[in-house]
Amino acid sequence: MSENVIFCYSGTGNCLDMAKNIARELGGADIVMMRAKPAVTDARGAKRVGFVFPCYGGGLPGGVEETLGCLQLAPSAYKYAVCLCSAYPGTGLSVVNRAFPLDYWQVVTHQCSCVWLFPHTMMLPPMTPAGAQARAEREAKRIGQAVLSGKRSEKPPKANPLNAAESRLWQTISRKKAKQFAVSSLCVRCGTCVKVCPRENIRLFEGKPRFGSDCLQCLACLQYCPQEAISLGAVTRRREHYHNPNVSADELSRPVLHIE
Ligand SMILES: Cc1cc2nc3c(=O)[nH]c(=O)nc-3n(C[C@H](O)[C@H](O)[C@H](O)COP(=O)(O)O)c2cc1C
Repeated sequence: MSENVIFCYSGTGNCLDMAKNIARELGGADIVMMRAKPAVTDARGAKRVGFVFPCYGGGLPGGVEETLGCLQLAPSAYKYAVCLCSAYPGTGLSVVNRAFPLDYWQVVTHQCSCVWLFPHTMMLPPMTPAGAQARAEREAKRIGQAVLSGKRSEKPPKANPLNAAESRLWQTISRKKAKQFAVSSLCVRCGTCVKVCPRENIRLFEGKPRFGSDCLQCLACLQYCPQEAISLGAVTRRREHYHNPNVSADELSRPVLHIE
């Protein structure tokens, strides 16, 4: 295992792209994906440990907090976290900070992947997609340099009880919303949706995807479907789909990525 380990959750690739760019800046890292069953939980050998994740409904994506509870890290390791969001970071950073007190943390806004709620171009403050991607790449460099120099944030991230309540409600909304997934005749039964789902919530039945109830609404299935055959209510058929241009479905499905 590398001396740099990054635990990453990513639905549509923004966080994985950020983690990869930070890893390059650090001179290499192992990126462990926080999927239903993380492949690595013992990172006591790492000198620097990062957490990169999106804000989902004001908090951490479901399952990430449980993963944090399984991790073993060296008390002396430098710990940092980056939260990506399209408008506000919510309370996820403070939850990570409670599990592992953070030396350094950052928030970066990027495109919105929840396309049944907002178009993917919705960001606050407003920005073009190309501008958001370029800024995320610049921020990754800055964050990597800060981590290498052992920079410390002045204050811990703030907990926000309203966002915490929103986050609890979001888990219920996600499960209910999952009942609206539909698959059109465009489906070629390629299984991409099964591979990218971070919760192993999709199974092929007679070659076609079937969705269970353990859904976080990451929409990786819908956004990475090469046929655009998956929808979640009428609005997602009309809205342009989005996933990070630098992250393929294959990469997103890997349990661990070794970046040089
Ligand atoms: C289910 C879901 C919920 C989201 N909730 C929020 C939110 O509460 N606040 C926010 O600013 N952005 C929210 N977003 C936007 C994501 O944080 C943003 O698109 C992020 O870049 C996605 O990272 P990823 O591509 O690695 O999955 C949400 C996106 C999804 C899919």
